[in-house]
Amino acid sequence: MQKKPIAQLLRTGQPDETVTIQGWVRTKRELKEFAFMEVNDGSCLANLQVILNPDVPDYQTTLQRVNTGASVEVAGVLVPSPGKGQRIELRANSVQVYGEADPATYPLQKKRHSFEFLRTIGHLRSRTNTIGAVLRVRNACANAIHQFFQERGFLWIHSPIITASDCEGAGELFTVTNLNLNEIPKTEDQLVDFSQDFFGRQAYLTVSGQLQAEVMAMTFGNVYTFGPTFRAENSNTSRHLAEFWMVEPEMAFCDLQGDMDLAEEFLKYVFSSVLENCPEDMEFFNKRIDNSVLATADNIINNQFERITYTDAIAQLEKADRKFEYPVEWGTDLQSEHERYLAEELFQKPVIVSDYPVGIKAFYMRLNEDGKTVAAMDVLAPKIGEIIGGSQREERLDVLQQRIQNQGMNPEEFWWYLDLRRYGTVAHAGFGLGFERLVQFMTGMGNIRDVIPFPRTPLSAEF
Ligand code: 4AD
Ligand code: MG
Repeated sequence: MQKKPIAQLLRTGQPDETVTIQGWVRTKRELKEFAFMEVNDGSCLANLQVILNPDVPDYQTTLQRVNTGASVEVAGVLVPSPGKGQRIELRANSVQVYGEADPATYPLQKKRHSFEFLRTIGHLRSRTNTIGAVLRVRNACANAIHQFFQERGFLWIHSPIITASDCEGAGELFTVTNLNLNEIPKTEDQLVDFSQDFFGRQAYLTVSGQLQAEVMAMTFGNVYTFGPTFRAENSNTSRHLAEFWMVEPEMAFCDLQGDMDLAEEFLKYVFSSVLENCPEDMEFFNKRIDNSVLATADNIINNQFERITYTDAIAQLEKADRKFEYPVEWGTDLQSEHERYLAEELFQKPVIVSDYPVGIKAFYMRLNEDGKTVAAMDVLAPKIGEIIGGSQREERLDVLQQRIQNQGMNPEEFWWYLDLRRYGTVAHAGFGLGFERLVQFMTGMGNIRDVIPFPRTPLSAEF
C-alpha cells in the first residue's frame, strides 16, 4: 500500500486505488449513518475528504478521537466523489490516530481567525489555509529564484552572517557577542561593554551580502546570494522585519542598464514560475486575500515596467493633484506614499526609478557624470513600494575612497573592498530583492509578519 501526498492523489488518484494517507484532521462531520472527516497534509490547499463507515474498526472511539488538529493515518480505497469541488474521496478501511488534539484547548477552530491572533500562536498557524498557502508560495518563489540564476550560469555565493562591515552605512546593526551569559554581572553598578565582544573584536549581523558578492563577482562574473539579513531599525510597519531574506545578484562587466534589465526579467520569471507551480494557492489568494492578485501577476508578466529617473519622478510628484504627508523636494528620499503613488496610481505597474541624489544613497554607488546623482535604481511595486534596491558600483579607486571619506566612514576598514578596485577593477552592478516583500506582492498579504515562518520584529522574536 502506497503512502502518497494528498496533492498527488487529488491530481492523479483513480477510483478503486488502495492508498494510505497521513495528515491532520481539519474538520469532522458526524451524520446518523456515517461520518466525514477532512484531512490536510500540507502538500496542498485542499483537504482530502474521508468517509468513515461504521464498519471501520473501533468506529465510535475513533470518531471521538478525530477532532480538529489530531494526527491520523488512514488506509482505504479511493472512490468518485458525489460532492462538488472534488473528484475523488477516500473510503476508510482503517484509521490510526497518532495524537489527539483536545477541542477544549486547541486554539484553531473552524471559524476564521484574525492574522493578529494567529501571530500569537506562531507554532500552529501554518496549519491554517492562508499561512499554509503563503509558505508553499514562498517555497515556490525560492525555488524559482534559484532556477532563474542557475539557468543563467550565476554562482550561488554563501555570504557570511557575521561580519565587520556595515554595507549600507546606515548604522542599523545588531552586535554579535560571545559573552558567557552566566558571567554577566547582575548588579547595576558594573557596566558591561558589549561592543567588542566577538573574541575581542567588533562584529555584527550582516545587513547585506553585497560587498562579499562583489568580491566573488570579480572572480566568477555573475553571482548571487540568497540568505537571511538583519536590520536593527526600530520600524514597526507592515513592510519591515528585523530579520529578512535577501536575494542579491552581482554582475561584473555590467552597468545600470543591464542591472535594471535583469531585475525586470527576474521578477517576470519568478511570477510566471509560481503561477505555474502553485495555481490553487494563487487562486485562493485572489479569492480570499486580494482580488487583484492574479491581475497583478498578469500585469507583471506581460507589460514592460515603467522606467523613470528620480528627477523626473520628483517632477511627476510635484504635478500630482494631491497632498502628500511628506513634502516632495529634490534631494530627499522618496517616502512610501510617494512610491505607491507612482506605482499604484500614476503608472499602475512596477516602476524603476533611477539616478538618485548622491546625498541619500550608500557610499558604493557609482557617481554619475553630473556629480549630483548616482547610478542607483529602485523597483517600486504597487501596494508594496520598494521591493528591489540596486546600483552600478563605484569601480574607480579614487572616487570610491573619496565617497567613503565623505560619508564619515573609515577607508582602512574597507581595505579589502578597495583592493578590488586596485586589482582588475571593472564596471559591475547588482541589486537586492527583499524576499518577504516579493512574497507579499505575489500573495496580496498585507503584513510582512505573515509571509515568513517565524517573524522577528522589535515586538516579537518568539517561537
Ligand atoms: O535597499 P536595500 O537596503 O539595499 C541593499 O541592502 C543593497 N546592498 C542591495 C544590493 O544592491 N545588493 O535593501 C534591499 C531590499 C529593499 O529593496 C527591500 O525590499 C528589502 O531589501 N528590505 C527589507 N525587507 C524587509 N524588512 C526590512 N527591514 C528591509 N530592509 C530592506
Ligand atoms: Mg533601498
